[in-house]
Amino acid sequence: MSPFIIAIDGPAAAGKGTLARRLAAHFGLPYLDTGLLYRAVARRVLDAGADPADPIAAEAAARALRPADLDRPDLRGPPADAAASAVAAIPGVRAALLAFQRAFGRASGAVLDGRDIGTVVFPDAEKKLYVTASPEARGLRRWKEFLSRGVAADLAAVTEEVRARDAADAARSAAPMKPADDAKLLDTTELDPDQAFAAALALLAL
Ligand code: DC
Repeated sequence: MSPFIIAIDGPAAAGKGTLARRLAAHFGLPYLDTGLLYRAVARRVLDAGADPADPIAAEAAARALRPADLDRPDLRGPPADAAASAVAAIPGVRAALLAFQRAFGRASGAVLDGRDIGTVVFPDAEKKLYVTASPEARGLRRWKEFLSRGVAADLAAVTEEVRARDAADAARSAAPMKPADDAKLLDTTELDPDQAFAAALALLAL
């Protein structure tokens, strides 16, 4: 029997992570935030003083990735966001991270969130959600997240950064961000986390 996979994709700050974590706890499944993998690769490239858009440096960082890299405290915030999006556009980086994501899910099923889980990583996942929200709502959420972590940020600049990153993630040729044909769409613009969780359970018929 194939492992039970719930694939959650969508743009930045749409509420994927909160929802995926909650679905995983509800079903007793492991959870993988695949964005962290790209963030950790980006961090390694930045630490080496290299350009995140440099395929040679980024692929080397992806191959050198270790589990402890995912526990670093500096994986979130504006410089890491843009650098993660840059390394994520490089096919060799994506290829290097694919086996880890598939092995994680195949071990005992999982909830994974990202941009290409339902299209590339687990195209045969039983359940797929594409989670979105308006750019304004997502900019506001990301801005509040920065404030809660003590990171000073300008709302307009954060909203623009989110918009630019989504545009880049959707336009790249390697595994672009897009809904799988069989994904259910969930717009969280007007929903709080409890409402989004209830809507997800209903959409997935779980
Ligand atoms: O989900 P996140 O914001 O932490 O992801 C950071 C970046 O990583 C995002 O801009 C695009 C990239 N990413 C990706 O290309 N594929 C994934 N499955 C997850 C993230």
